[in-house]
Formats: sequence, C-alpha cells, structure tokens
Amino acid sequence: MSNTSRIKSSTLKSKVMSAEAAAELITPGSTVGMSGFTGSGYPKEVPQALAKRMEAETAAGNPFRLRVWTGASTGPELDGAMAKVDGIEFRLPYNSDPIAREKINSGKMEYFDMHLSQVAPMAWQGFLGPLDTALVEISGITEDGLLVPSSSVGNNKTWLDRADKIILEVNSWQNEALDGMHDIYYGTALPPNRKPIPLVRPDDRIGQTHFRVDPAKIVAIVQTDTPDRNLPFSPPDQTSLHIAGHLIEFLEHEVKKGRLPPNLLPLQSGVGNIANAVLTGLNNSRFEDMTSYTEVIQDGMLDMLNSGKLRMASATAFSLSPEAAAMLNTDMGKYRNKMILRPQEISNHPELVRRLGCIAMNGLIEADIYGNVNSTHVMGSRIQNGIGGSGDFARNAYVSIFMTPSTAKGGKISAIVPMASHVDHITQDVQVLVTEQGLADLRGLSPKQRAAVIIENCAHPDYKPMLKDYYKRAREHSYGQQSPCLPSEALSWHQRFIDTGTMKA
Ligand code: COA
Repeated sequence: MSNTSRIKSSTLKSKVMSAEAAAELITPGSTVGMSGFTGSGYPKEVPQALAKRMEAETAAGNPFRLRVWTGASTGPELDGAMAKVDGIEFRLPYNSDPIAREKINSGKMEYFDMHLSQVAPMAWQGFLGPLDTALVEISGITEDGLLVPSSSVGNNKTWLDRADKIILEVNSWQNEALDGMHDIYYGTALPPNRKPIPLVRPDDRIGQTHFRVDPAKIVAIVQTDTPDRNLPFSPPDQTSLHIAGHLIEFLEHEVKKGRLPPNLLPLQSGVGNIANAVLTGLNNSRFEDMTSYTEVIQDGMLDMLNSGKLRMASATAFSLSPEAAAMLNTDMGKYRNKMILRPQEISNHPELVRRLGCIAMNGLIEADIYGNVNSTHVMGSRIQNGIGGSGDFARNAYVSIFMTPSTAKGGKISAIVPMASHVDHITQDVQVLVTEQGLADLRGLSPKQRAAVIIENCAHPDYKPMLKDYYKRAREHSYGQQSPCLPSEALSWHQRFIDTGTMKA
C-alpha cells in the first residue's frame, strides 16, 4: 500500500516500511506488547511476517520465539499464525484462539491468565518484566503526531508508554469516523500517588481522544487495509432464550421491589453466544433508556443502540460478527456520540464498576452447588479461554449474575456439579445463577440454603436426582456442616467423564 493519506505527520511518513522489514526489527526472545481485544484492532501484517520469519529461522536451527502481551484475545493473523509455528513462548492475559489453546494445553506455551483490569497496572509496577516493543494498530496519525486509536483500545496506552521501541500498523479499513469515539485517560498512577478516577456516569469523558507518543521511539510504520476478524454469533436457540427469559423476569422483579431503577443500572455483558442472546432478550424487553459500562460491544448491544433501547455503550473494544462489523464500519459516524472506547484498565476498573453499580452478566463452564464458579478450566486442567474481565466485574458489580446451559457436550456433562473442578469466582462473588431450567437468587443465603436452591432451580432433570443424592449423603457424612462436602466423591463426577465420556452414573 503506497497511499499514506492516513499519516498526516510528514516526519512520521518517512518511517513507512513493509511488514517484513518491520518484523526484522523485533529481537528473538524479546517481549512484544501488541494491540488487540477480541478480533478488533489487533496488528494484522507484522505478526504474519513474524510467523514466516520464525518458521524460517527455526528451520535453520535458530529457534525464534517471543513473549506476547495483548489486551485480550486477538485474531487468527496474530495468535493463530504465531502459535502455529510455535513462535509464542509466553502469553498473557487472555486467549481464545484454538491453535494457541492447543499449544497451551499440550504444555508448549506458558500462559498467564489474569484479570484484564490488572494488566496495565502490573506492567507499570514492573511485575511483568521489561517491554521491548509495542506493536499497535491505529486508524491514523494526526499532523502533530498523535495517534488515532482503532476499534479496540485495550492496553495500547500502556504499551506505547512503556516499550523501548514502537511499531505501528495504520489500518485504512477502519473508518476515519472512529476519530473522536475514544476516551484515553492519562491520570492513572501507582501507589502512593493514586487519585480517585473522576468518572461517575457511564457516558462521562475524562481523557483525550488520541494516544500521545514519543516519536523518537517509533521505528516502523506499516500500512494495511485488512478487516478486523471475529467469529459469527449463533442465532439464539431455545436454551439461550429461556436463560434470557429468566434473567429478564428477575430484573423486572428487582425494579418492582425498588432495588433497581426502571432503566436498570449500567449493563456489563460477557463474551459468547448466551451473553449475546441475553442482549437480544433485553432488546425485546420493556426496559428503556438503558446504558452499558462493559468490556466489549457485541452484536446484541449494537442492536440495542439501533433500536434506541440502549442510550449509550462504554467499552474497550468492539466484538462483532463479520456482518455487524462491516455494518458498523460503514455507518461509524452515526454511532460516534453513542459509544465510548476506553483503556481496559478503565473499562474494567473495580473502583468504577463498584461506583456505577454495574449489572454483571457472564458465562461459565461449571458452577457447584454452593455457587463457586469455574469460568476457565474444562475438567479442572484444560484451559478454555481465561478469566478475562469476569472477575473485575463479578466481584464489584451491584448484582453479579452467571449464566449457562444446565448441561454441556450434548447432555453428557452437568454444568451444576457437587464441587467445581477449578474456581475462578468464589461463592461470595456469585449472587445469581441462571440456566434454562431456572434462576437461583443466592443473595443473603447460607451455603446449605444455596445448595438447595441451586439444585432445585438450576440443575437439569437428568442430574437433579444424582445431585440430591450426593447432597443428602454429604449432609450425613461430611467432616463439617457449614458447606457439606465429600471431596473425593464430588470430584469423581469429573473423573467419570474423563473415563467414560459422561458424568451420568
Ligand atoms: N464441561 C466441559 N466442557 C464444557 C462445559 C462443561 N461444564 N461447559 C462448556 N464446555 C465447553 C463447550 O462444550 C465448548 O467446547 P467446544 O469448544 O469443544 O465445543 C466450550 O466449553 C465453550 O462452551 P460454549 O457453550 O460455546 O461457551 P460460551 O460461548 O457460552 O462461553 C465461556 C462460555 C465460559 C467459555 C466464556 O463465557 C468465557 O470464556 N468466560 C470467561 C471470560 C469472561 O467471562 N469474559 C467476559 C468478561 S467481560
């Protein structure tokens, strides 16, 4: 691409080069902070050039691997391409790429799965080690050298500030009307100098629209017009429609009780098909004038903005199906005043989630009868994606809701189990549990009261008798009676699936 019209700074134009030349500037074994949050705003050209270089150098007997930090998951041109050639030695903070997942689960890639709000502070605290290169997609460069962010903000501000050198990818596929949508807050600091973050409503703007950058650190600029890439959402099925129905009934009840205002509180919606289906349910509900303070804007939220049910959405990234991304990209100007994209340390900040009183709605892999939630590990040892922002929101929300189909793998696995094989969200951070079977409102309940209501309301009928039988025996034989439990029998459910392919007795 030779058209440099997105690069308005004449001095920076001289840094334009090919992706291959830019990839040569990255040192084997070093740490690269890349942009990207879901399939939005990740660098698309240099990672592929790096993958080629890695393959060639490794074949020549000089293994070339990198430590890769990002905002969250990215697209196949980054995680997929580099993982395929075993080019990622260490990865943080979140992954959903199937090839990278396989490398992690086979022990070939180290993975630090962490709360997304903590990545930038930990990088500043120096806990993660030095950052050699920032590789960041942007949508343009202003005349005075400021960077116009792309379709995700993630940790880019931190990577640009912390890295020794910077490689930029200017993506002209991104609509220029993105300019003005971002709110980059530069007021964070380390203890003892931290100050309250001055955001009191989801639509407050507290920062600036562009990233500032030291031009001397920019060593390369690569141009691209490759689109963002996300997976399509499945249309809501009966299971997700039932989950959405229970949830909306619960929210209506809370409004009636005066515990929620009529337009609810800022919504946080997690990743995946169920979360998206719940948004579709909310779009068809009676609620009006809603807002969201969330991590990603997915299709369901875009539909709510289109229908006017959602007044505005604050997030750190888009996470849209290819059709929705193309539609948004064409009409970006229409949405500029309805959306704000912020750094992930702000979109997910515990102080702000607590102050705003977000309604957190996240998916899970399994929950136990006491409401401990496993969001990350299948059978306790195999990572699916990572905790992402679910912990940032669940612990600090006004109401923390987790939702799941009651079974997985075509009914062979119960999502409600005697003991979670891995715990990401402790029982205190899980206030409402929803499956297609029903909803368990766990607020104010003791562990034994929770167990009764979770088994009764949320478990699948195929597994309810087994859970009741287990719980009865736990009441009779458990070492203590606060959270009755027979540990080896509880975990035998998972072992049974590993041995026989089903949890059923
Ligand atoms: N036991 C074993 N496997 C299970 C399972 C269970 N109880 N529940 C789900 N799975 C498997 C599914 O079979 C599927 O496997 P496949 O890819 O081989 O088909 C996989 O896990 C994903 O399940 P799916 O039902 O498609 O999940 P989803 O799209 O609704 O996402 C999570 C569910 C938990 C994976 C997802 O919400 C997640 O990653 N959460 C953590 C991060 C997060 O919450 N981020 C949002 C914060 S803002």
